[in-house]
Amino acid sequence: MEKLIIRGGRALKGTVKVSGSKNSTLPILAAALLTDDLCVLEGVPNLRDVTTMIRILRNMGLKVVQEGGRVTVEPNGYKAWEAPYRLVSTMRASFCVLGPLLAKHGQAKVSLPGGCVIGPRPVDLHLKGLRALGAGLKVEGGYVLARARELKGSTIYLGGAFGSSVLATANVMMAACLARGRAVIENAACEPEVVDLAEVLIKMGARIQGHGTPVVTVEGVRRLNGFTHRVIPDRIEAGTLLVAAAVTGSELLVQGARPEQMGAVIDKLREAGIEVTLSDGAIRVRPKRTLRPVDVTTLPYPGFPTDMQAQLMALMCQTPGISVITEKIYPDRFMHVAELGRMGAQVKLEGACAIVQGVKRLSGAPVMASDLRASAALVLAGLAARGTSEVARIYHLDRGYDRVDVKLTQLGADIQRAKMD
Ligand code: UD1
Repeated sequence: MEKLIIRGGRALKGTVKVSGSKNSTLPILAAALLTDDLCVLEGVPNLRDVTTMIRILRNMGLKVVQEGGRVTVEPNGYKAWEAPYRLVSTMRASFCVLGPLLAKHGQAKVSLPGGCVIGPRPVDLHLKGLRALGAGLKVEGGYVLARARELKGSTIYLGGAFGSSVLATANVMMAACLARGRAVIENAACEPEVVDLAEVLIKMGARIQGHGTPVVTVEGVRRLNGFTHRVIPDRIEAGTLLVAAAVTGSELLVQGARPEQMGAVIDKLREAGIEVTLSDGAIRVRPKRTLRPVDVTTLPYPGFPTDMQAQLMALMCQTPGISVITEKIYPDRFMHVAELGRMGAQVKLEGACAIVQGVKRLSGAPVMASDLRASAALVLAGLAARGTSEVARIYHLDRGYDRVDVKLTQLGADIQRAKMD
């Protein structure tokens, strides 16, 4: 296991390029299961979740080749229509192989993902949507066993207690592409990654309308062909880099980002007093001397993303004044609070609300990463803190960020990767 040793207080400077989106890549790789043709995905980030998805496809017998940012999938010759527990348990996104397997092969055995440190993450909406398309599903031995002679379009309301679901929308949309007739997904997730997936499916010959809105209509077709596609840039990585600049009082140019997909994050940074200027495909941040605390509530897109909540908290912890951070997607997603507290942050939790009393500066400490975005928050806090921080269990960070420690080092941060004792 590895850790990051961060000596805080260094200003960052320069230009950094955003990698391809993790959350686009994962369901798009699963979409390769819908065809017998060659699929080519470009701009794929180099991170552990992508490796896990590739292992799942290889485990089914597919030929997958990863060369730099290019992944090719040749879906010829299946060994099994199964995604085993040992792989699914490490990454929930692998559950979205269920819809494509069912639609193309009429059967699937996919492990239930199980618990997650950011709170309960059920898959009832995935199952509800696929059942509405006519799939027979049962849960046995921790697996979803699915069968369908033929899927049939219908109208599906896909909202849960916390609103729309990104991966349930992806799963059902992919399955509906090969169903007979028209499927209408109501309360569909509008996230840019769902739109990216829909655009891939359309390249494959699917007939989809309304993607990017809460009502998506899919007219089923008999077969889908392969695709060549470049994934969109990772808006969460871009947002994390913007916060890295803000928290260290640095000027940075973040290249390759799509500001039009980052409205809520950019708006909050501006409200906090950071100068953000946009040009085609790049975002420049110039922090002001004093920042203001901001209140934020996480919501489905285009609201403020839950995947940026921990990072914004790291910034607010070092912004004098009180800010209130409300989590409306995963009410328990506050594992980073106790660790930030070890660095001197003053945060009080009241249910799904965090009340942050910002201090001038945190102080470095040994801390433990608990999940992907929490680790990013601890790294950000460490960049600005006085003294040295050691962020343990950095494999969480490697699940979802493409060499972020290397990128930050190139910008002037003092970060070392080391083996844990
Ligand atoms: C995706 C993202 C993840 C992000 C999350 C919310 C990927 C690979 N991951 O995860 O980074 O944090 O969206 O933006 O794209 N829910 C149910 N029943 C279900 C499914 C979800 O109640 O069957 C609930 C969840 O517990 C949560 C909310 O719906 O409260 C939204 O979750 P969802 O959009 O499904 O998250 P994921 O798609 O798993």
